[in-house]
Amino acid sequence: MQRLYALGALSFMVVGCDSLTSSPAGSGTVGVDAGSSSEVNGTAIPAEPQRAGDPSRGYSALVNEGIVACGIPWTIYSRFFGAAPEGDRLPGRTRKNANLPFGQTAFTTSAGVEVVSANCLTCHAGHINGQLIVGLGNTEQDYTTDPSSNARTARGIASQLTSDPKEIAELQKWASRVEAVGPYSVLDTVGPNPGDNFAAVLLSHRDPATLAWSDTPLLDLPPKIGVPLDVPPWWRMKKKNSMFYVDAGRGDHARIEMAAANLCTDTVEEAKKIDAWFPDVRAYLASIEPPKWPYSIDGDLAQRGRGVFEATCSRCHGTYGEGGRYPNVFLSLDDVGTDPVLAIGGSQFADRFIDWWKKSFYGEMSRLEPKKGYVAPPLDGIWATAPYLHNGSVPTIAQLLDSKTRPKFWTRTFISTDYDAEAIGWTHTALDHGKADEPDGTVRKKLYDTTQLGYANGGHTFGDQFSDSDRRAVLEYLKTL
Ligand code: HEC
Ligand code: HEC
Repeated sequence: MQRLYALGALSFMVVGCDSLTSSPAGSGTVGVDAGSSSEVNGTAIPAEPQRAGDPSRGYSALVNEGIVACGIPWTIYSRFFGAAPEGDRLPGRTRKNANLPFGQTAFTTSAGVEVVSANCLTCHAGHINGQLIVGLGNTEQDYTTDPSSNARTARGIASQLTSDPKEIAELQKWASRVEAVGPYSVLDTVGPNPGDNFAAVLLSHRDPATLAWSDTPLLDLPPKIGVPLDVPPWWRMKKKNSMFYVDAGRGDHARIEMAAANLCTDTVEEAKKIDAWFPDVRAYLASIEPPKWPYSIDGDLAQRGRGVFEATCSRCHGTYGEGGRYPNVFLSLDDVGTDPVLAIGGSQFADRFIDWWKKSFYGEMSRLEPKKGYVAPPLDGIWATAPYLHNGSVPTIAQLLDSKTRPKFWTRTFISTDYDAEAIGWTHTALDHGKADEPDGTVRKKLYDTTQLGYANGGHTFGDQFSDSDRRAVLEYLKTL
């Protein structure tokens, strides 16, 4: 029983996302008038050429191919897990994948063993109103437990789970990687994602020239306390010139995106094979349309909101609909004022990881140039991407546009039908105390405490000066995007 549990927890363990961040790229400074009298300086992020690809081939590869390159042998996985519920399966999946949950992929490794591993959609597919949406950031994940002790157990009992030496070797390889990453994938709050920390750990264990894995880290590891991140929706990539919140991902996006699953990509040759089809995946990401607002909209109010939005918000977030234009504006920390921890970048944004990248296969076509501030994202499908800001610290857009109403301590059910159509975001409960004063461990995990390092909810006060009726109108307009 104990063993079964250990294995269960493991197989749902996630792989790392190499969501490394950025630096001083930008071209000219653009005058970004925040709508009030204060001028803030945004920087326009220039476009760079991308390799062309076929979006439908990309989708098929994304849901059927083994990007991660290692996993749990199928013979073991299938002993413990049956088919996924209908609502968690994906269209367009072939063979065994047709019945697997969206976040898992079955494939055959280079050693010839059929395995199951987590995939990009573990973090990049999520539910809203009970519906699974590919490309929506997953905000229901629980990273509060370090999976490495379970991995160690699985490694120890591998020979009791299978007698095939090739399968034993695969299980041990996979488990040892989880052991390396596990201690750095822990956050103390359910919902946010530690992806950026994973990335740094994986790079620390690889030789940049050969990509060979080393059990002993070759670079200093990042701090164990991960930076909490709200996984951004993929459909933004059709407009964004750079990747990541801090404008870090420059150059060829496909080359950076493929590194998000480098848990077991241990040779340049293997990386080249994945790179051959990753432009298709990039093309698919850039083709995704955001989900449409599922409730009614007051057309007149939205129309009025559009005017207010264009006068106040468009300089940074762009215009929408026919002839819409997204300016790709980057704002310094001083100008946006949101939580600084990610932008200051003590971990994966450290120079040693940027140097690693430059020397590696990934760095041949792409650059990591983290900057001290945040990109103003396109707001397409913004209704579906709560909670808001890069750390997911604000549960609704109504609160984002009126900073004094943002809850200091809050919790939610993590049930995707608990949606607040009025305030646009998650139904939640504001609490009168933080984690330190919460005695119940289960409640504590689900408590978002904005006084913790990295979790602050200040800044972005651009909606504060609105009258209530203007704010209502802007909210109505945002539903149409
Ligand atoms: C462990 C969770 C996780 C996995 C797995 C993961 N990602 Fe991510 N991804 C993130 C997080 C978190 C961010 C935001 C990082 C940041 O901006 O600092 C991100 C950012 C991105 C972005 C940039 C989006 C933007 O608006 O700038 C792209 C594109 C992306 N991921 C693609 C992928 C692909 C493709 C895969 C699979 C090969 C993948 N990711 C796997 C967590 C994950
Ligand atoms: C001066 C530039 C600027 C202006 C003006 C501006 N924003 Fe933003 N906005 C940003 C930046 C930068 C971020 C990202 C901040 C972060 O994640 O820490 C952001 C984030 C957001 C988000 C959260 C996105 C997400 O997925 O979490 C929303 C919603 C938003 N802005 C709406 C608005 C609206 C509505 C207005 C007009 C009242 C507005 N913004 C005005 C720069 C701006």
